[in-house]
Amino acid sequence: MFAKEVYVRRRAELAQKMREAGQNGIILFVGNAEAPAQYKDNCYKWRQDSSWLYYWGLDEPLMAAVLDIDSGAETLFADDVDIDDIIWMGPQPSVRSKADAVGVAGTAPYSAVEDPVALALKSGRPVHFLPPSRYFNTLRLQQLVPGGKPSEALVKAVISQRLIKEDIEIAALDHACYLGYQMHSVARDAIRIGIVEQDIVGQMEGVALAKGWGVSFPTILTQHGETLHNHIHDKIIEPGKLMVIDAGVESNEHYASDFTRTYPTTGKFTQKQREVYQIVYECNELAFSLSKPGITYRDIHLATARKMLEGLSALGLVKGDLDEMVAKGIAGLFQPHGLGHNMGMDVHDMEDLGENLVGYDPDQTRAKQLGLGSLRMARRLRPGHVITDEPGIYFIPALIEKFKKEGLGYDFVNYAKLESYYDFGGIRLEDDVLITADGARRLGPKRLPISPEEVEAAMKR
Ligand code: GLY
Repeated sequence: MFAKEVYVRRRAELAQKMREAGQNGIILFVGNAEAPAQYKDNCYKWRQDSSWLYYWGLDEPLMAAVLDIDSGAETLFADDVDIDDIIWMGPQPSVRSKADAVGVAGTAPYSAVEDPVALALKSGRPVHFLPPSRYFNTLRLQQLVPGGKPSEALVKAVISQRLIKEDIEIAALDHACYLGYQMHSVARDAIRIGIVEQDIVGQMEGVALAKGWGVSFPTILTQHGETLHNHIHDKIIEPGKLMVIDAGVESNEHYASDFTRTYPTTGKFTQKQREVYQIVYECNELAFSLSKPGITYRDIHLATARKMLEGLSALGLVKGDLDEMVAKGIAGLFQPHGLGHNMGMDVHDMEDLGENLVGYDPDQTRAKQLGLGSLRMARRLRPGHVITDEPGIYFIPALIEKFKKEGLGYDFVNYAKLESYYDFGGIRLEDDVLITADGARRLGPKRLPISPEEVEAAMKR
């Protein structure tokens, strides 16, 4: 948790932003509740809602809060523990002391949140709330504000605050990336022919649990990297394959890291693997070199798409005018995802608030094209943005066959040659990047080995 002044300031800024946007009424926050996995006392791992953490800091279930936009009054709604709780959980701090820790003047029992909400509704004052990310909160909000809809003004105000990371958050993200570096190093060093992928997942996730809250999203570790989010880890590691490892640590402060590296299972790339790897590596480097305030991430996505097509053209897999191919979305056949996303407390930061509101400026429209249409962060870059830089090339036989069947890209794509890549798999290379006042820097104290030479040297045993 940060110092109480941080939370006090953030809430005051939020109320101010709402007033500046011409809004009045109250803001209702509902924190997460425990989610039973089977019976009510055996729950999924506890995780608080990120916007709650951002404004109210308290990392505990069953809390709510009301912030009055007009008066600035704040109340935390939570229950003190009773003797039954103490028997099972031990003594706990009082609600009053928790409220003091985050600078909230008023407290009341959890169920009493109904009162100010009902009063506001009765007197015609707006009740603003965020889109819930959990079913419990969906139900709770419908009980409190029957028929109510999330407030777009509130969503925009929250995004404008959370999108630009404060110095304390940047330090927390650097730490999460440091942990991510350690986790990925353990994973890389564990790659051995003949072991099961799950063995490596266990070793690397042990680092996340030993040093932080855990993983920031389900680990992707696979010799079938052409499946973008492959969470099945039951394959025996075979020689001659590429292993995609896309994973991150969530720190105890609940900030994420998210890195991807791709390794030759034997420690040495084949010629064919190296050729494709080099293209992805150059796209990653290009994206980073272009990242600075003022340019849109959409334009950087398109610049890397062009670079990728240039490399694939040199391999004879596509042919034609590069700009025309970019415009026609040919790169999407090889990289059907966007160049990156926002990152913060959530690995895809704030996407629960609305992917387009988070990732697109008001003057930008999301494209429909394969690849570009999946770009989750297109905004004009500003200092304090934290984004991922994650180009990839994948040979997805079903997608290539679909393109071919539908007669797409015939002028550009060498479908005959592509068939010899059907068993290639995929490559993705991902770093986490902070936009600074005059450019960008990669988060974390050290960069994971990434050039083909660095990767082979790191895998030498
Ligand atoms: N690195 C996983 C994701 O971006 O979804």
